Amino acid sequence: TIPIFTAIADYRTWRKQAFKEGKSVGFVPTMGALHEGHLSLVRKSLAENDLTVVSIFVNPAQFAPHEDLATYPRTLPHDLELLEAEAVPASTAPSTLRTPSAVFAPTVSEMYPSGIVQNVAEQKGTFVEVKGYGHQMEGVSRPTFFRGVATVVTKLFNAVQPTQAYFGQKDIQQALLLKRLCRDLLLPHPESQNLHIIPTARDPTDGLALSSRNAYLTPQGRAVASTLRLALQAAESAWAVGLSKEACIEKAIGVVKAKGKEVEEKGLAVSMKLDYLQMNDAHTFDVLDPEVKRGQTELVILSGALYVDKTRLIDNILLGDT
Ligand code: PAJ
Repeated sequence: TIPIFTAIADYRTWRKQAFKEGKSVGFVPTMGALHEGHLSLVRKSLAENDLTVVSIFVNPAQFAPHEDLATYPRTLPHDLELLEAEAVPASTAPSTLRTPSAVFAPTVSEMYPSGIVQNVAEQKGTFVEVKGYGHQMEGVSRPTFFRGVATVVTKLFNAVQPTQAYFGQKDIQQALLLKRLCRDLLLPHPESQNLHIIPTARDPTDGLALSSRNAYLTPQGRAVASTLRLALQAAESAWAVGLSKEACIEKAIGVVKAKGKEVEEKGLAVSMKLDYLQMNDAHTFDVLDPEVKRGQTELVILSGALYVDKTRLIDNILLGDT
């Protein structure tokens, strides 16, 4: 069975041994309620590192007071079962099967020795902000979210001291912001180039991005949840044939509106509301000008958030410059 560390001091003893033996440590930070998306990160880490550490910590600092901290799914025994079942051939020695080496599941007081409250104005202690990169896209509706993420991930990196770390494209702004954090803070564990971004794992039938929050959806909600993905794909196709950004977004919004109309006509017991749908420069996170077209920019993040009842779902597609 995989050892679970809840105290940082115990973990550090284990980590020291790995340093001594010169072993690489891959790290997959999560908030638990594990699904195939998380497991795809774990598999990548297993293939590429001698040892793999998975953290499970529902981070209070990244939830606003009105958000779902209290109800966020907590399924530790099942998470451990899923991790126990993973075994992946090493990329350097395919005859060797690797399994997760440790789970880091700290308590809130261990991670926040100065305490933590939801309200940013009342917080005390040390926090990390990546200035200029946390207020666009997800940051519009969740203005304190990336402060909470940057803070906890800095703490997790300091505790775990990974050689490599693995994040999902599902949360593209988070992953790119954290790469910048590693660079700006000159972090040795991991260095920015050792923070890897893994493609979004999706439901094989309708392409819905896997998420722990999908568990909140009712059957009717689940049936319309892939609308965001379809809307983003409509914008992607419009971009590919050379339409302006403005026209691409219009196409995408059209898809959401059409689905909303269908829901209404069929009298389905579900509400849908688009939070945002935008195209941003992947380097600066600036919103693209309305008239910009394919070929006139470098990498673009096409992203959005859709409320299905009270559940906020996010997704994105990266648009290259080709
Ligand atoms: P959580 O939502 O649990 O996600 C943990 C990691 O899994 C993140 O890097 C996320 O991008 C990735 N992930 C989630 N769904 C995915 C999918 N469908 N395909 C691929 N990867 C996916 O993101 C967080 O937790 C937290 O903000 C955290 C970084 C742990 C800090 O608290």
